[in-house]
Amino acid sequence: MTASATTTAFSRRGSILHVEEVPLPEVAERFGTPCYVYSRAALTSAYQAYQAALADRAGRPALICYAVKANSNLAILDVFARLGAGFDIVSGGELARVLAAGGDPGKVVFSGVGKSRAEMRQALAAGILCFNVESVPELETLNAVAIELGRQAPVSLRVNPDVDARTHPYISTGLKSAKFGVPFEAALPLYRRAAALPGLTVRGIDCHIGSQLLDPAPAAEAATKIVGLVDALAAEGIVLHHIDLGGGMGIRYRDETVPSVAEYLAPLLAVMRDRQEQLLLEPGRSLVGNAGLLLTRVALLKHGEPKNFAVVDAAMNDLARPALYDAWHEIVKVSDGGTPTPARVYEVVGPICESGDFLGHARELSLAPGDPLAIMSAGAYGMAMSSNYNTRPRAAEVMIDGDRMHLIRRRETLAELFASESLLP
Ligand code: LLP
Repeated sequence: MTASATTTAFSRRGSILHVEEVPLPEVAERFGTPCYVYSRAALTSAYQAYQAALADRAGRPALICYAVKANSNLAILDVFARLGAGFDIVSGGELARVLAAGGDPGKVVFSGVGKSRAEMRQALAAGILCFNVESVPELETLNAVAIELGRQAPVSLRVNPDVDARTHPYISTGLKSAKFGVPFEAALPLYRRAAALPGLTVRGIDCHIGSQLLDPAPAAEAATKIVGLVDALAAEGIVLHHIDLGGGMGIRYRDETVPSVAEYLAPLLAVMRDRQEQLLLEPGRSLVGNAGLLLTRVALLKHGEPKNFAVVDAAMNDLARPALYDAWHEIVKVSDGGTPTPARVYEVVGPICESGDFLGHARELSLAPGDPLAIMSAGAYGMAMSSNYNTRPRAAEVMIDGDRMHLIRRRETLAELFASESLLP
């Protein structure tokens, strides 16, 4: 996401925060809170920033495979499918979503350490571009499943380059100790084995070292190791069609120095210069993170010593990142006008019965009950990680497109929450 896309899609006009042409209080009024709000223009310009940065891979257009896990709403997938994106999926469920949204299965890569036989069959039947295989047992099972179906499964090995991505340990995946991928030293013999298995066609190679990366150096280091391996394979007659360098580019949540997409990709593209293989990327957060916010309302204020609490109607079930990673999301008032109440330092918390249910610590805000608030940079891993904890229906989702509001997911109802449960006989 470029700074300009963010500022044009989310702007304050007078005292009122707008998403594109729509004032946020209108969204809160019409659809209620909590509610995720996305900007189609911000999604589009984030995607176009990747396209522009990759444009001079002449002759071999790169394929941007949006990592569905970041935000899997059908309308979001639809926006990217219409822009020509491919998709990185990690489950049969995500594949079904991509197909339902009109995505091209021929542009789908399937990552994940625990693909089931049923998911393998489903993906083979759909005709996906490639399986990113993460272990020896998976290689063998996929071979067997493909033979059963009379097909050839296109494969890459996800190689773990043993590079430190220098990010939060929960979202760092490229070290030897991680559960992901096959060890770098094991890759050559495994490719030989894959090439010899009758149900598999070796297509490419894949790596993904972690998420919210602000420095491209570790990704470039990984890419260098990967192309070395590709050359060693070619010398043995195993020729790869594509190199998938994963996702991981970070976004600005607070005051981090964030490179532009072009700056982040430059060292990776330098490694890929003059290479014939197609380049694949799997960005998630950097396509959707700053294209969405979580709209909530102040339910009540609890002033006291030693802390003031602003209890809002969104909670950790709606946005788990603060509770899970101690992640920082900017929290702003939707309307800055009106009679000013004195600013205080608040713990912004949800109604859930856990001390970890917070959305922001020590935020200086002037608040009154009923005020709408926007929790920013919530487009990635927000709704996608939401739950029904405390039997809270999941939030609505709205896509803004110019001056139009589209309800892209209606708020869940209480009846839906236990519709699939039963009483004892
Ligand atoms: N490819 C693979 C194989 C992945 O595992 C991931 C993310 C991506 C691509 C996309 O990475 P991105 O471009 O979004 O960084 N829930 C955490 C993030 C988990 C990332 C998991 N894998 C969070 O909220 O920060």
